[in-house]
Amino acid sequence: PVTRFEAEAGTMSGGGTIDTNHAGYSGTGFVNGANAVGSHVEWKVDAAGGPVRVSFGYANGSTASRPVDLSVNGTVVATGVLFPGTGAWTNWSTVTQALTLTAGTNTIRLTATSADGPANLDYLDVVTG
Ligand code: GCU
Repeated sequence: PVTRFEAEAGTMSGGGTIDTNHAGYSGTGFVNGANAVGSHVEWKVDAAGGPVRVSFGYANGSTASRPVDLSVNGTVVATGVLFPGTGAWTNWSTVTQALTLTAGTNTIRLTATSADGPANLDYLDVVTG
């Protein structure tokens, strides 16, 4: 099963905006995070607990990959996860990682580690089974 959490329903650090100017996104918009180191986007995810895959929908119309650290419940579980260029801001792709969630509410956060900030983020899919 796949449960989708839209980025526009999450939270972000200062300077980020919910935008609709690049077509092809899921839901009602996407998060355009601030172009800065430390800029983050965060989701609250209810889980049964155990291993899952998380798939981030995103677009990166620049030519440089946008790295982020991935944290779960405040602990960084993957550093420098790359969100490669997708060719245009209207080209949407996914980056997938394996994670272990705890039973109950989990906080999943992507934090930019480059001055470009995060890619434009559309959603987080949590895939079980
Ligand atoms: C452009 C684009 C934005 C994007 C930004 C960026 O301004 O329109 O959607 O977020 O570049 O480089 O992050």
